[in-house]
Amino acid sequence: MELLEWDASAYDALPLPHVRWGRGVIDRLGLAGDETVVDLGCGTGRDAEGVLERLPRGRVVAVDGSRNMLEQARRRLAGCDRVELVHADLTRPLPPEVRGDAVMSVATFHWVPDHAGLFGRVAATLPAGARFEAEFGGRGNIAGFQAALQRAGGPAEGSSWTFDDEGATAAALEAAGFHDVDVRLVPDPVRLQRGGPLEAFLATVVMPAILRDLPADEGRALVLRTAEELPEPVVDYVRMQLTATR
Ligand SMILES: C[S@@+](CC[C@H](N)C(=O)[O-])C[C@H]1O[C@@H](n2cnc3c(N)ncnc32)[C@H](O)[C@@H]1O
Repeated sequence: MELLEWDASAYDALPLPHVRWGRGVIDRLGLAGDETVVDLGCGTGRDAEGVLERLPRGRVVAVDGSRNMLEQARRRLAGCDRVELVHADLTRPLPPEVRGDAVMSVATFHWVPDHAGLFGRVAATLPAGARFEAEFGGRGNIAGFQAALQRAGGPAEGSSWTFDDEGATAAALEAAGFHDVDVRLVPDPVRLQRGGPLEAFLATVVMPAILRDLPADEGRALVLRTAEELPEPVVDYVRMQLTATR
């Protein structure tokens, strides 16, 4: 399946909990300041910009599969010569320029199936002893949203998300050769304003893969019905936070 394209400017205009999630991942990296950090699923480059502030002598390799997201990242990071933007598919072996001293990722890995394989590809980008910090949707993530989507007549599968539990995530990390593995499932519901703000958030952040398969007017109608079916204007996020050493 072709990689999903995102509406990068609509994405950046939203009140994203991702900003907070990204800061947490960057804080947990515990950087010295001279590393090369790989950001997998960098989106519009917000966290690449943030992590560069912690890397006065370091670099960032920012990787994404959406050309729209990378173009927005390119505009955001224009003039910075310590960042390399790479178009790559995380479901495939990563190109040789994706190498670093640490790997981070925010709100991306639930879009990638087969986490054992994914973590193997992450391990291949790192030397022994390197830090791996990530966060993404875990078991139970947006279950309430998915129930509302069903009531609204949305597709049965919802999307091709992988929301694993702690045991499966830890096992996948260990199978890929990581040690000192720590995984935590953290409920983190996000309340939005009913009407335009909730609908824009659902359409841009939660439902892009569902909407891709629908004509625009049907997609718009599905977003409205799904928003109406939510008992509260809340996206019931459950985040997997992981820390591991290569
Ligand atoms: C929800 S966005 C998160 C972006 C950014 N990390 C943030 O926190 O704002 C998910 C990102 O993962 C990327 N992505 C999803 N599946 C991917 C894949 N198979 N290969 C490369 N990038 C992928 C998308 O293009 C998108 O930019």
